[in-house]
Amino acid sequence: MSEAETKLEGPDLAQGIALSSLTEGAMLLGHAQGEPVILVRQSGELFAVGAVCTHYNGPLAQGLLVADTVRCPWHHACFSLRTGEALRAPALSPISCWRVEQRDGKAFVRDRLDHASRSASRATSTLPESVVIVGGGAAGNAAAEMLRREGYAGRLTMLSADESLPYDRPNLSKNYLAGSAPEDWIPLRSPKFYKEQNIDLMLGVRAVSIDTANRQVKLADGGRHAYDALLIATGAEPVRLALPGGDLPHVHYLRTFADSRALVARASTSKRAVVIGASFIGLEVAASLRARNVDVHVVGRETCLMEKILGADVGNLIQRLHEEHAVTFHLGTTASSIDERGVTLETGENIPADLVVIGVGVRPSLALAEQAGLAIDRGIAVNEYLETSVAGIFAAGDIARWPDRLSGERIRVEHWVVAERQGQTAARNILGRRERFHAVPFFWTEQYDFGLAYVGHADRFDTVEIDGQIDAHDCTITYRRDGQKLAVAVIHRDLEGLRAEVEFERTIAALEANSARLAASS
Ligand SMILES: Cc1cc2nc3c(=O)[nH]c(=O)nc-3n(C[C@H](O)[C@H](O)[C@H](O)COP(=O)(O)OP(=O)(O)OC[C@H]3O[C@@H](n4cnc5c(N)ncnc54)[C@H](O)[C@@H]3O)c2cc1C
Ligand code: FES
Repeated sequence: MSEAETKLEGPDLAQGIALSSLTEGAMLLGHAQGEPVILVRQSGELFAVGAVCTHYNGPLAQGLLVADTVRCPWHHACFSLRTGEALRAPALSPISCWRVEQRDGKAFVRDRLDHASRSASRATSTLPESVVIVGGGAAGNAAAEMLRREGYAGRLTMLSADESLPYDRPNLSKNYLAGSAPEDWIPLRSPKFYKEQNIDLMLGVRAVSIDTANRQVKLADGGRHAYDALLIATGAEPVRLALPGGDLPHVHYLRTFADSRALVARASTSKRAVVIGASFIGLEVAASLRARNVDVHVVGRETCLMEKILGADVGNLIQRLHEEHAVTFHLGTTASSIDERGVTLETGENIPADLVVIGVGVRPSLALAEQAGLAIDRGIAVNEYLETSVAGIFAAGDIARWPDRLSGERIRVEHWVVAERQGQTAARNILGRRERFHAVPFFWTEQYDFGLAYVGHADRFDTVEIDGQIDAHDCTITYRRDGQKLAVAVIHRDLEGLRAEVEFERTIAALEANSARLAASS
């Protein structure tokens, strides 16, 4: 992910711009008081907001306007044009918002407006006195932040088994591992932030049981935390391979910041790596190790990369991309043992290596939920409000299996943006909002200068339609089952990805309206 240029472009909007030059439903990129700003005329109203996304500095002027919001082209964050608020993850902080004055046939961007903080006045007597969040990852952190943004003033505790502050996990296999993102990019927030927000963040603590009758979480060190509402956001952990030599010091897994640091340290003295597992994490690791000039061999059971998720054409494209970067593949096989000098495959072939990375999938971390007797369905079963089978306990992120409105199926995904948005919805529902989780799933991957974004969910599909030129890395790929459009992947067509998201949202809204009509008439 390269950072967007923040150099100033376009007109100085403080000097005024002719109203006649502002097209309805379009964005004009300019600047005011030294900051990039977009001026928007939407449904006859004028808005001016900061032009740079607060997630990874994405260029909002290249995004999409939807009603009174703007969506980022890179990872689909959504901001209010009225207030600048980050309405949807992955952005967690607002963009700037400016007063626009109309005079003498011109629009002038005047002063920067303060972000109105929501007051605790929204609170009602039915609010929980204390909220405990187990998990300090994407979902847990987003939930804690949203509780405070929504004006929740009660006791808020976040328990995390991780020793690090909540951090940007997707970056661990990308820029950070490649050496192009410094350490200080990785934490999502500073320690000061949690202090100021009065979030009691406890790091390096593991919850071992939940006493649902007395509403208490018990920690491994014997400590107890009482809750009125509980969010379980324990994420997932890497599947460990029980291989001879699998616990040697040069064998690495990648889930945590500490794992990535250890891998960086090892990679800096390594010449040749074997990556076992050829899905997203394995392939992103391969690309990042190539950026460090390490020779890379990838071993995978499949014969075509990611065929089940993205189809054979994309799989072949990604394989060629890696081969162009001198990665060697060993497909249709797996490792049978590891020793200090290399990896032996089931075929008997030996690949020399001084670094081995295993990325063969993850398993949801369900021990706590199972012990508490929550309903389990290959994940924690939640309803559309992200409530578990026990009142007062919610679940979000990689562990939650929820009823997906679009496919009509109960699904569980392992996507950063979904985890954060679920955390945000769970937070609002903890406060009694009764908000259904109907967000369209979204994920992205980056390998070298190749980027793919995916909206929707098609764990099975029978038709793949490619619009554009896949070899030129410029296409939209649609996945259907029985004629129904289930997901869209875009390669370097960000706007198309955003449009697909909006189209799926309209389908969901129509399904909801239909259900409401049927309910009313029965
Ligand atoms: C290297 C890497 C790259 C990725 N890249 C992408 C990407 O490009 N795009 C994408 O969409 N997704 C990506 N993902 C997936 C994404 O990071 C996850 O889907 C997301 O982090 C899930 O969020 P979560 O909150 O459910 O779990 P996590 O972020 O894993 O957080 C779980 C938290 O729970 C804590 N915990 C677990 N058990 C306990 C316990 N008993 N007591 C206390 N704390 C506990 C953990 O320490 C952790 O803090 C990537 C994942 C990895 C590992
Ligand atoms: S840069 Fe805007 S959502 Fe990531």
